[in-house]
Amino acid sequence: MKFKSKKVMIAPSILSADFACIGKEVARLKEGGADIVHCDVMDGHFVPNLTFGAKFVKDLRKMSDLHFDVHLMISDPEKYVNDFIKAGADSITFHYEAQGRPEELLSAIRSANVMCGLAISPDTPVCEVEKYIPMCDIILIMSVYPGFGGQKFIESSYEKIKNVKEIIARTDSKTLIEIDGGVVFSNVSDIKKCGADIIVAGNAVFGSDDVKAAIENLRNL
Ligand code: DX5
Ligand code: ZN
Repeated sequence: MKFKSKKVMIAPSILSADFACIGKEVARLKEGGADIVHCDVMDGHFVPNLTFGAKFVKDLRKMSDLHFDVHLMISDPEKYVNDFIKAGADSITFHYEAQGRPEELLSAIRSANVMCGLAISPDTPVCEVEKYIPMCDIILIMSVYPGFGGQKFIESSYEKIKNVKEIIARTDSKTLIEIDGGVVFSNVSDIKKCGADIIVAGNAVFGSDDVKAAIENLRNL
């Protein structure tokens, strides 16, 4: 599946949702006008936290027709990518720090008709992944250290977004920029001005009493 919209897309992260009623939580996102469901997969090894695997995504897939964006924060992503493809992911992003030679995996994901993405953690400079950007449907810039929701946005991420935007323009690529971590109402406008296409937000959406208003604010601020 490819995105049709040229506008900024809002991708609430279910990491901050109530897992005990996850079906309802995802339904709330649809009603609230979200474009994407961001699924944070953590293995307790690549990051110091555990979440869920492909079975969870597969079961949730039946509950929603929104775009499912799987963010793998795991070691050896090549071992698990097929499971997430079969589970019905619409896009799969893995970390450059976990797979330093990403070409093959990016093209395997794309061959399965799933959008392919490469993520970089805050300490990885953009120049290290520059040559891979044109091969990606999505480049995900982590603006917090991966592992937990509700952290503070790292200010140097603004420069990274601009840098990636410039590379995309120079190479005439179609790659979308996804920003993930610490996005709140007070910084979302600056993040968009730098050139982000997909905005991930966990706490800003699920920490709010009104999910719809939160999504609208992220879209319109
Ligand atoms: C962090 C995850 C993020 C996170 C976003 O490792 O990749 O998707 O849940 O949550 P907030 O928006 O609360 O920082
Ligand atoms: Zn994420």
